[in-house]
Amino acid sequence: MGGNAEELHLPVMCNEVLNCLRPENGGRYVDATLGLGGHSEAVLQASAPFGRVIGFEWDNEAAMLAGKRLQSFADRITIIHASYADMADELSVLGVDFVDGILADLGVSSLQLDRAERGFSFSKDAPVDMRMNPEVPVDAATILARATEKELADIFYHYGEERQARRIAAHLCKVRTNSRIRTTRQLADLVAEAVPHRFHPEKIHVATRVFQALRIAVNRELDNLVRLLTDGPDFLRPGSMLCMITFHSLEDRIVKQAFRRDQRLQAGKPIHPTAEEISANPRARSATLRCAVRV
Ligand SMILES: C[S@@+](CC[C@H](N)C(=O)[O-])C[C@H]1O[C@@H](n2cnc3c(N)ncnc32)[C@H](O)[C@@H]1O
Repeated sequence: MGGNAEELHLPVMCNEVLNCLRPENGGRYVDATLGLGGHSEAVLQASAPFGRVIGFEWDNEAAMLAGKRLQSFADRITIIHASYADMADELSVLGVDFVDGILADLGVSSLQLDRAERGFSFSKDAPVDMRMNPEVPVDAATILARATEKELADIFYHYGEERQARRIAAHLCKVRTNSRIRTTRQLADLVAEAVPHRFHPEKIHVATRVFQALRIAVNRELDNLVRLLTDGPDFLRPGSMLCMITFHSLEDRIVKQAFRRDQRLQAGKPIHPTAEEISANPRARSATLRCAVRV
């Protein structure tokens, strides 16, 4: 990847996040998805000189790069290489009972999309992997090889909201009897072949939803999100905020419904990026920020 990875991932809706989280000097904040540390850096600056951030990151390479970027904050940043789904256990190990705010910026980082070998993107050819944490045992190629036709169709339908799910699953299963589906380009081409041209979407590539669905399945993203929404609020001090940035309707629906049901939280209105931000950072276009205060 060319350029500087930290520069390539612009933190999405950073001002809006700071307005919701309201970091204060001496406060302690959790960044559930540290990524390359963009949001954490802003929180550390806003809570100087004594505010602290505990950052979770599942991807070792991202955690390392974030560590480098944030090294000038020294012991004000603690990086935990673990899933945010295990936040409750990890915070207990640190002896932390309460924090002054939690942020999660869900999804993949530009680092992961840009590293062809991680297999998240069909813009470059590479093995279909898609694991956020390469220690997770099952990658996307294994799911494509082992899941039944019905299981694949369910993954594409439920996690990708793909209407052509059955057609695509049937085609992939036919092809895989002769050869394993190994690469991102091969998968994208097979999806394009399976879907009649009149059903190809206008604004996104025909394989976009299938890639999203496989990524969610490989990383059990929705299960992780539910665990974060269940455990996170118990650690929030009354009056502090839970800020969630989502990038697709499935995640957003889960957050919206959890906020509505959860008696520990009082939710505000969803916030969307400004037109200026979208033109400066196209990745922001599908973002929604939902914030809730711990009552
Ligand atoms: C959109 S990026 C976050 C970018 C970050 N806010 C920044 O400013 O650089 C999402 C990050 O969450 C990480 N991630 C995804 N699932 C995770 C999980 N279950 N636990 C911890 N980190 C996770 C990904 O590896 C990715 O680096």
